[in-house]
Amino acid sequence: MTTPPADLLPLAVDIAREAGALAYARRRAGVSIAATKSAVADIVTDADREVETLIRQRLDAARPGDGFLGEESGGGESTTGITWVVDPIDGTVNYAFGIPIYAVSIAAVAGEPVPGEWTALVGVVYNPVTDELFHAVRGEGAWLGEQRLAVTREAPAGALLATGFGYDPATHAGDLARVAKVMPIARDLRRMGSASLDLASVAAGRLDGYFERGLNPWDHAAGALLVEEAGGRVGGIGGGPVGRAMTIAAGPAVFERLVSIITE
Ligand code: IPD
Ligand code: CA
Repeated sequence: MTTPPADLLPLAVDIAREAGALAYARRRAGVSIAATKSAVADIVTDADREVETLIRQRLDAARPGDGFLGEESGGGESTTGITWVVDPIDGTVNYAFGIPIYAVSIAAVAGEPVPGEWTALVGVVYNPVTDELFHAVRGEGAWLGEQRLAVTREAPAGALLATGFGYDPATHAGDLARVAKVMPIARDLRRMGSASLDLASVAAGRLDGYFERGLNPWDHAAGALLVEEAGGRVGGIGGGPVGRAMTIAAGPAVFERLVSIITE
């Protein structure tokens, strides 16, 4: 029998809180960079690995047949059709530099654990510094604690937008050219450094829209469900599926404008 999505939420929330508390404690004790990954700027701390290990152990203990796709420890096959897509610390550069904008991101997805093919069931994004926990269950809305979230509905004179830049310097010229194309519709632009919190902010109506090239599945799995459950849209180039090529998230009107500007 398949698991109702809402049944997965308490587990995701409990683990996100425990993982966030661990990340927060390690940050207070002092953090140093353990290694670089895809590029010199792409770093990992011991805390990223320790927090992912904790999340993976908790999920394995509670739901041994589920799959796992995590930033730091890779994948594990699913026998239940459900896979957990996890970023233990989204915003690692902020975390390492002491900027208090980072989150634990945990999603449960059904089907192939490939963006655009999966169906997201549950998403939790938790910032332990602000103690804000965003959650969504498919079909049951997006929430910040007891408060139901809604994306901005009108296309304002100027949209408050956010973006991000990948770690590979070779992609920066293209990213900046895209920013130049988008700026005419922007009130202002934020680069907060945590894709999951950018998406949660769109869901909460704190941002009118967000776009970024180069995201990995764990960066957007939970946040995209938050946006959709808050009445927004998430897509890629031409409004097609999200992928590494592009992630665009916004309320319906700003989404259309961003898709058209970014795709042209
Ligand atoms: C990164 C953050 C950042 C985004 C990068 C991501 P990480 O995730 O979400 O905001 O611009 O593309 O890789 O490395 O901190 O988990
Ligand atoms: Ca990360």
